[in-house]
Amino acid sequence: MTDMPTQAGDAAATHPRRVFSGVQPTGNLHLGNYLGAVKRFVEMQDEGLGETLYCMVDLHAITTWQDPAELTRSIRELAAAFMACGLDPKKSILFNQSQVAAHAELGWIFNCVARVGWLNRMTQFKEKAGKNRENASVGLYGYPVLMAADILAYQATHVPVGEDQKQHLELTRDIATKFNNDFGCPDFFPLPEPIIEGAATRVMSLRDGSKKMSKSDASDMSRINLTDDSDAIAQKIRKARTDPDPLPGSLEGLAERPEARNLVGIYAALADTTAEAVVAEYAGAQFGAFKPALADLAVEKLSPIAGRMREFLADPAEIDRILGDGAERAAAIANPIIDATYDKVGLLRSRPR
Ligand code: TYM
Repeated sequence: MTDMPTQAGDAAATHPRRVFSGVQPTGNLHLGNYLGAVKRFVEMQDEGLGETLYCMVDLHAITTWQDPAELTRSIRELAAAFMACGLDPKKSILFNQSQVAAHAELGWIFNCVARVGWLNRMTQFKEKAGKNRENASVGLYGYPVLMAADILAYQATHVPVGEDQKQHLELTRDIATKFNNDFGCPDFFPLPEPIIEGAATRVMSLRDGSKKMSKSDASDMSRINLTDDSDAIAQKIRKARTDPDPLPGSLEGLAERPEARNLVGIYAALADTTAEAVVAEYAGAQFGAFKPALADLAVEKLSPIAGRMREFLADPAEIDRILGDGAERAAAIANPIIDATYDKVGLLRSRPR
């Protein structure tokens, strides 16, 4: 980025390990969210190498219009999905962004640190705003700044995300660097590490191997939702677009075959193995044989999640209690960091608690 003094610094060297990530409560979680992010959240929680905070980013969701009643429902559904996937409120802090004021407070300060030129380069804004950019909300434009605030309000050091968030993580590091330089406090904010790992960091649409699997795709056949039943999962995999060739004997043979590469990556991630191992096992197999094996694996791994989700959703009061408790614990970490930030900027900090 331009005008940026660079700062050496590795979060792991300057701050205790703390993991933070977020997901927007807008409709169902899909297989891309699960394999690219939430599955990794659970692994990092269970590694027990420091605090883990996982946030439902409702303030990000409202950067595009959301029906209020549906938004409330989606927040509870996402909390249920998190827990159904294996996030445990006793091990991780699970909470809702708008219930912790620190995000909006630090977001404003970072709006005054980030440069317009930096935001103009954000590819997700360009994709989401589309042709009618003049009509996009100011919130959508500032979305990556709020994301930086989410992470840095906790001085988080590690951020598990899918590949599409890489540029936002780079911006977060730039904002941290500029704040630290502008206010003469080297290492105050860590430069968080994006954790983009696993066999499926970019899951593609089942209908078009050049497009990311996404909640906003008009075709439900393009994605597997975590709430899909076994029949729907099997049908979507059976109908997934492929090419007529058998699976190759090595990864290089997938280079020009995006749909085949996508299905191999999904299989590998669901089976906790590598794409290399899958290709070695199915070398020469036709999709007529590979797809049913993938469908069986997907049903085996995903249908228990849908079942657990329904159980959690049967008790919305308990979900609200968990989110309230999570928000309290999150605020207890963020508030002293926000106090110190205000102090560095020269703002007075005396607020009703
Ligand atoms: P969101 O809600 O769009 O997606 C949540 C997570 O899922 C990943 N993901 C994918 N991974 C692989 N393949 C796909 N097709 C796919 N689609 C989505 C995303 O990379 C993400 O990790 N900006 C974020 C939310 C956010 C956040 C944060 C994340 C807000 N504040 C702070 C980390 C830290 C977003 O829109 O994710």
